[in-house]
Amino acid sequence: SRTLRLAVIPGDGIGQEVVAEGLKVLTAVLPADTKVESTEYDLGARRYHATGETLPDSVLEELKNNDAILLGAIGDPSVPSGVLERGLLLKLRFAFDHHVNLRPGKLFPGVASPLAGDPVIDFVVVREGTEGPYVGNGGTLRTGTPQEIATEVSLNTAFGIERVVRDAFARAQARPRKKLTLVHKNNVLVHAGHLWTRIFNQVATEFPEVSTDYLHVDAATIFFVTQPERFDVIVTDNLFGDIITDLAAAVTGGIGLAASGNINPSGAFPSMFEPVHGSAPDIAGQGKADPTATVLSVAMLLQHLGLTDEAARIETAVAADLAERVGKPARSTSEVGDALAARVAG
Ligand code: IPM
Ligand code: MN
Repeated sequence: SRTLRLAVIPGDGIGQEVVAEGLKVLTAVLPADTKVESTEYDLGARRYHATGETLPDSVLEELKNNDAILLGAIGDPSVPSGVLERGLLLKLRFAFDHHVNLRPGKLFPGVASPLAGDPVIDFVVVREGTEGPYVGNGGTLRTGTPQEIATEVSLNTAFGIERVVRDAFARAQARPRKKLTLVHKNNVLVHAGHLWTRIFNQVATEFPEVSTDYLHVDAATIFFVTQPERFDVIVTDNLFGDIITDLAAAVTGGIGLAASGNINPSGAFPSMFEPVHGSAPDIAGQGKADPTATVLSVAMLLQHLGLTDEAARIETAVAADLAERVGKPARSTSEVGDALAARVAG
């Protein structure tokens, strides 16, 4: 028998609602001899208003004692932009060294894509998660004057690039098509771009079976729309990865289906799984949010912990549920969760 220690951070807005359904499906899919010991953490806008805290050190310490973290969504219009994003979400990613931000882009059968011609879309973006402009390296000068200057410096280390590139090659190697595309902008961002390209080419020599490709990020956005079937695994930096994974979600059925994992492959700290979507305050509390992205994030969590069969069963259940939605009225958040829980259980 096994016990999964799970930290749950529902967060803000629809985070609460979708996480409840994710946990429902998790409980339903696990074999009888596997127990979940989950601890819920009250973090986000409510806590910030009540105490001024975003992520206290004591909570950060406690979170370490878990096998994984499930997060709903962070952000609320009542909190200044950046406070919760930097003070909670990014702080977690940095503190737990989540350098592999894994974001699958898969178009399930029956799901409407805005793209013509029913393309086969099944790729995964390996977004670097701990560097780039996200480190907060920058500042302002001459504030409030007409000569004001703001810089936002992108940090790229050989160590940080190599480990994420190596991870992406290994993932490409394990997939049938064995193809890896580096996305950057090395015609303009020559300092970081050349380092990424050089390391990518070096690591490529260790993976002779993987075919490689390079695209500038602007060209990549064209191909996401005109030829998404050309992609298998994509590796890119933190900011380009943020942008292209929203585009990936848009072409694979929308943000309600996009799952992600913030992974620390060494296991030194717990990895964290979350839907790509935000807290959607406009529909919060109405039972309208689609919990599918969270449920698919739970599948990624199980996959990460080695519960491969259970992860696959969730994916199969989601595929069947999505195929059956065609032409039917929308269901509530808990109706979708109930349907998925029933499918994985039976
Ligand atoms: C995401 C989000 C975050 C990011 C924000 C909320 C900090 O957009 O997970 O994609 O930029 O990484
Ligand atoms: Mn984003």
